[in-house]
Amino acid sequence: MKYHIVTYGCQMNVHESEKIAGILHEKGYTEEAPIEEADIVVFNTCCIRENAENHAFGNIGALKQLKRQKKELIIAVGGCMAQEEGKAEIIREKFPFVDILFGTHNLPELGELIDRKRVSKKRVFSLREERGETEDNITPVRTGYPGAWVNIMYGCNNFCSYCIVPYVRGRERSRRAEDVLYEVRSLVEAGYKEITLLGQNVNSYRSEDGYTFPKLLSEAAKMGEKFRLRFMTSHPKDFSEELVRVIAENPNVCKQIHLPVQSGSNRILSLMNRRYTREKYLDEIAMLRAAVPHCAVTTDVIVGFPTETEEEFEETLSLVDEAGFSSAFMFAYSPRTGTRAAAMEGQIPEEVKKERLSRLIERVNARTREMSSRYVGGSAEILCEGYDEKRGLYLGRDEYGRMGYFQGEKELIGKFVTIHVTAANGISLFGEIKREER
Ligand code: 5AD
Ligand code: SF4
Repeated sequence: MKYHIVTYGCQMNVHESEKIAGILHEKGYTEEAPIEEADIVVFNTCCIRENAENHAFGNIGALKQLKRQKKELIIAVGGCMAQEEGKAEIIREKFPFVDILFGTHNLPELGELIDRKRVSKKRVFSLREERGETEDNITPVRTGYPGAWVNIMYGCNNFCSYCIVPYVRGRERSRRAEDVLYEVRSLVEAGYKEITLLGQNVNSYRSEDGYTFPKLLSEAAKMGEKFRLRFMTSHPKDFSEELVRVIAENPNVCKQIHLPVQSGSNRILSLMNRRYTREKYLDEIAMLRAAVPHCAVTTDVIVGFPTETEEEFEETLSLVDEAGFSSAFMFAYSPRTGTRAAAMEGQIPEEVKKERLSRLIERVNARTREMSSRYVGGSAEILCEGYDEKRGLYLGRDEYGRMGYFQGEKELIGKFVTIHVTAANGISLFGEIKREER
């Protein structure tokens, strides 16, 4: 039998879809196929911003026709939007052709839900309030070779006032370090070359077996010789000198950190409940760069948070200049029902948010281009990840997160290649192979 998974949102979801595929394989759906040929379609949804939800609803709705033609098709909807308050009712009423709904805490039961649906022919909706069984026993079908994701923790305790994540993913739970390290070692032994440790706030990792995040990272770095370690996401409030030391001392740990700043204005940061100031954030970056001079810093920024003034937005622009981000994910604030910010007075009109967002994007992109152009004439070590059909070139990233494109051959996928950079465009570098390794 064949399956198709549609994934929205962050890397956490991309990895969860690999676990969903693992469960489907156990249930006899062993072949991935285009949506029209599938016997089961699973939507793994996101609700971080309204447009993510609209997207998912649109694509789920489009399956009505397919289901009419193919009665035995099973349609399942899971992930963050499924867990969000009120959304199960909408799906129940407006999307009668959805057979299974499962929340973020129900992933381990997906196999059972499929069995129940097959036997009873009735719709199966299952939403737990808290995670029961852990998902650590699921064997994922990995899709990112030579990269692999490893969860180190689930959930978030921070309640940033704009964010729905703590409501849909529950409280923070750290996995045992022993289990994380075993998984990292197995992946490296299996030939994976880039492992990304995943958590909503990795800096607050505390395991039952006594590990903090810096300790976990430094142990993980010992699990093999030539491989890369990345991690996301770090919260500036918990960023530490100890972590910086581990980044500096371990050649396997990529010299790139994703440190979401969200805003450059202290008043807005406080309203966001971020628990750091602009000054503290910039000090952290200075401390990082003092120890790891070429470290790339990437970030997330929200514009148009309730009550944000033009001057406060300009503080975000100036912070972007001061911090020297190599790239950024930038968003217009999207009110999420149930969060504190959604109920605040002083919501910013959509046109203003859009206008600020485009000014910010322009500012960040100019810097990204400028940084990329400095590579021209030099070299970059790229881990070859695959082939880009459109460009007709092989591609991969350097440890700082720059994309590199070059002419090559299939055998290079999963290998480190050094390219001589001949041109740059945005965050992408173009070059010729100088050397290849393992
Ligand atoms: N509106 C806009 N952006 C948001 N993010 C989280 N919640 C919202 C929201 N309500 C952004 C933050 C976060 C990233 C994953 O998504 O920048 O770091
Ligand atoms: Fe959301 Fe803040 Fe938790 Fe990140 S740290 S998931 S932005 S609540």
